[in-house]
Amino acid sequence: CGIIGILGKAAVANDLVDGLRRLEYRGYDSAGVATLEDGVVTRVRAEGKLRNLAERLSHHHLHGKTGIGHTRWATHGRPTENNAHPHATERVAVVHNGIIENFRELRDELAADGMTFSSQTDTEVVALLVDRALRNGLAPIEAVRETLPRLRGAFALAFLFAGEDDLLIGARAGAPLAVGYGQGENYLGSDALALAPFTDRISYLEDGDWAVLSRGAVMFFDSANREVVRPITVVPQGALLADKGNYSHFMAKEIHEQPEVVGRTIAHYVDLANGVVALPDTVNIDFAAIDRLVVVGCGTAFYAGAIAKYWFEQLAGLPVEIDVASEFRYREPPLSGRGLALFISQSGETADTLASLRYTQQGGWPSLAVVNVQTSTIARESTMMAPTLAGPEIGVASTKAFTCQLAVLLALAIHAGRVRGVLSAEREQELVGALVGVPALMNRVLAHETDVEVVARDLTHTTDVLYLGRGLSYPLALEGALKLKELSYIHAEGYAAGELKHGPIALIDETIPVIVIAPRDGVFEKTVSNIQEVAARGGNIILIGDRSAASEVGIAGETAIEMPPVHPVVVPLIYAIPVQLLAYHTARVMGKDVDQPRNLAKSVTVE
Ligand code: G6P
Repeated sequence: CGIIGILGKAAVANDLVDGLRRLEYRGYDSAGVATLEDGVVTRVRAEGKLRNLAERLSHHHLHGKTGIGHTRWATHGRPTENNAHPHATERVAVVHNGIIENFRELRDELAADGMTFSSQTDTEVVALLVDRALRNGLAPIEAVRETLPRLRGAFALAFLFAGEDDLLIGARAGAPLAVGYGQGENYLGSDALALAPFTDRISYLEDGDWAVLSRGAVMFFDSANREVVRPITVVPQGALLADKGNYSHFMAKEIHEQPEVVGRTIAHYVDLANGVVALPDTVNIDFAAIDRLVVVGCGTAFYAGAIAKYWFEQLAGLPVEIDVASEFRYREPPLSGRGLALFISQSGETADTLASLRYTQQGGWPSLAVVNVQTSTIARESTMMAPTLAGPEIGVASTKAFTCQLAVLLALAIHAGRVRGVLSAEREQELVGALVGVPALMNRVLAHETDVEVVARDLTHTTDVLYLGRGLSYPLALEGALKLKELSYIHAEGYAAGELKHGPIALIDETIPVIVIAPRDGVFEKTVSNIQEVAARGGNIILIGDRSAASEVGIAGETAIEMPPVHPVVVPLIYAIPVQLLAYHTARVMGKDVDQPRNLAKSVTVE
């Protein structure tokens, strides 16, 4: 969910919506604002996308100069107007990101006290607890100070109080929150992106902090209620521009940006003159001194990690364990030996990934975060940071951040292979050469976008799709299935091609397209055998591959998406493009909301 708060010089409702527009990637089930109209807490909320709220505000004019706003990704309670934030009483309004874990207990307590509820949300208990404290005679600051320790979970909050035109209070426990400084105005926001229309001067609340804002001053307190100082950082505005350019969707723009941003990222990790990996200062790890790598992420970032496992094991002889963050954090993995924990996250705010990072830190392991948002919590809390230079990614389905993650991970694996004595200098040069050649190859593949569109049109008529791949193409098959299902809502599954005969082959008939990712690599022949198994059962094969390789083994006729010859080590970076385009065009032709698929959020700050 996204939070914004403004202490303005003029009416703030439109600015609240502007800030929320930038936060819509965090959730878009429902949205709302609350302002003080002559001291009275006044709310306008709407189910669905932000435009519904904007539409409502065009009829219901708000004049208040103090306000808070929210865009929601539902956790407790359906995405109805009643459950939309802000939640409020006569005395206080609150917006909330995250989950209040002990809300049932608090709800029972408040109910026993005679209080009634008008929503199914966990947030309402916060409004009611503060309200009760206010009724008991506490001032707003004291009421919040008394309430915060009662809340368990990971959350961020922003409060507005009746009759208090020069006061907003924000609190952070696990979910991000930032303060922005303007000229005679001050702001609260989930991140710098929300505040970009207003200011580039930002302070981030540390975990456990709460902040008291007026137009003239901001005070920070830590979890022990001691006043603390939080540094002001200037966030370059260029980094915050979010514009579709000439594309009809952010996702299309982001897919097409890949040659540029992957090139920029590679340049950050490679000494181009000497053709070797040269890690930036932020990555200060001796790969020769570790004997185990643990890789953790969620969603697409997890699949980037699954690909990196092959690279680190094959190129650097380093044993790799990989898990999704929501499992890793609770399975109590022993952190013995000389290990490094590697976290992959575009946003750097994913709650499970952050919790996993903290788990490994408690275990005394150093951590390295591959992140796109360099000011994010994961970036700040990890021991080392390896940035991806993808620029802001707005489309909910990750594309350019994924390939930039792959570029960074491959550079790290090559470097590890060198320092661990597994790769010779010549082999390093060869691999770096392949990496440096990626942007040009990506451009070549993008030039054949119309071929992918043709295949996509066929997919729009199906209800199930299988993706198969081996080796580095196996996690890419999983990513392909994820992309297709999240964008088009067509059921799709990815399988290791060799695993087909152990179950999914039972599904094969002429109605189910089987997309086989078959580059010419060390396992090509094996993949060909699997293609033949599908063909023998009348399966509808869509081959993403290199025609010359396919003709040599007599399956050229099956090739649907023609790929140029590619060095096997960089296959996932190049083959990611048709995989992304296929999902994009299928969903686009079907008329789906490509940039904001239903039920999803770009940055999931709840567990
Ligand atoms: C959400 C997004 C995915 C993303 C995942 C991990 O589910 O919809 O696109 O891969 O979170 O996000 P992160 O920011 O940690 O990479």
